[in-house]
Amino acid sequence: MSATGGGAAAAAPRSVPRIGLGTAVQGPKPDPVRRAVLRAIELGYRHFDTAAHYATEAPIGEAVAEAVRAEVIASRDEVFITSKVWCADAHRDRVLPALRRTLSNLQMEYVDLYLVHWPVTMKAGRYSAPFTEEDFEPFDMRAVWEAMEECHRLGLAKAIGVCNFSCKKLETLLSFATIPPTVNQVEINPVWQQRNLREFCREKGIQLMAYSPLGAKGTHWGSDSVMDSGVLHEIAKAKGKSVCLRWVYEQGDCLIVKSFDETRMKENLDIVDWELTEEERQRISKIPQRKINQGRRYITEHGQYKSLEELWDGEI
Ligand SMILES: NC(=O)c1ccc[n+]([C@@H]2O[C@H](COP(=O)([O-])OP(=O)(O)OC[C@H]3O[C@@H](n4cnc5c(N)ncnc54)[C@H](OP(=O)(O)O)[C@@H]3O)[C@@H](O)[C@H]2O)c1
Repeated sequence: MSATGGGAAAAAPRSVPRIGLGTAVQGPKPDPVRRAVLRAIELGYRHFDTAAHYATEAPIGEAVAEAVRAEVIASRDEVFITSKVWCADAHRDRVLPALRRTLSNLQMEYVDLYLVHWPVTMKAGRYSAPFTEEDFEPFDMRAVWEAMEECHRLGLAKAIGVCNFSCKKLETLLSFATIPPTVNQVEINPVWQQRNLREFCREKGIQLMAYSPLGAKGTHWGSDSVMDSGVLHEIAKAKGKSVCLRWVYEQGDCLIVKSFDETRMKENLDIVDWELTEEERQRISKIPQRKINQGRRYITEHGQYKSLEELWDGEI
């Protein structure tokens, strides 16, 4: 089975596969990531989500090259690679060099999608947490986006987009963008459903891409609240399938889910040819809402974002 499927839900742009494998992992990286990505390609995943910040670009590139050598895929063109420019490179003159480093890590000539990781700028060289007040600078959205557009014009990024943008920030971006963002990658799961943002993006022709669709249980940015939801447990028990992922899929969003366990990787692909019932959808729609990945580390006393309200423009 290929994860490029269309299915019953509203269609994403053809070229963005609806299901992608996430690679934001803590702990040892190169070999576990390379092995997981190679196995995922064999299982039918065709979209891989990475970022300069995750340090998983190189093992993804190795796995793709290995899959081509083993003739699991005919060429690199059969996979869709998303990567992201980190905050320390969110400066007009640093975006293109950052993308060139990403391409060198991946050993590829282009990425399919290049995203601004956060609407945040840090001083050059600030790649790993913990971050301090002095690390932050004002985010110049226009300058960063013009540099993103240049990456696209040069053919190094087939599409460009953003992550963690509110409706208000998207509105600002659309007011000057020559090339509008293709995608906004944000947290979406039954505990943070993003109804307003989805409506806004649909109207503007921006594809929503869900991260942490299972609530990122077990990570420092995640929580147990999705996996431990009583409502979701009950529905999953009746269905025996991944209710969260199917729910996201039915919203028409693309989704990025991380598992390096073969059984769960297979399970996470099994969301295309079945549906939730109307009653199940209703029950999920009533789950109390709470944003899990709030981005607290980008809040500083004297910086651009002094509160979560400011970072998310009240959309929290
Ligand atoms: N743009 C951004 O700012 C941003 C932020 C966060 C994440 N992301 C991207 O989105 C990807 C996915 O989000 P995420 O990693 O935060 O969280 P997630 O995919 O919601 O959850 C991952 C966790 O769930 C477990 N898991 C996966 N499938 C499962 C299943 N079927 N049953 C039970 N447990 C399961 C995984 O463990 P196992 O591996 O052991 O299965 C892992 O601990 C990331 O890896 C990253 O690529 C982007």
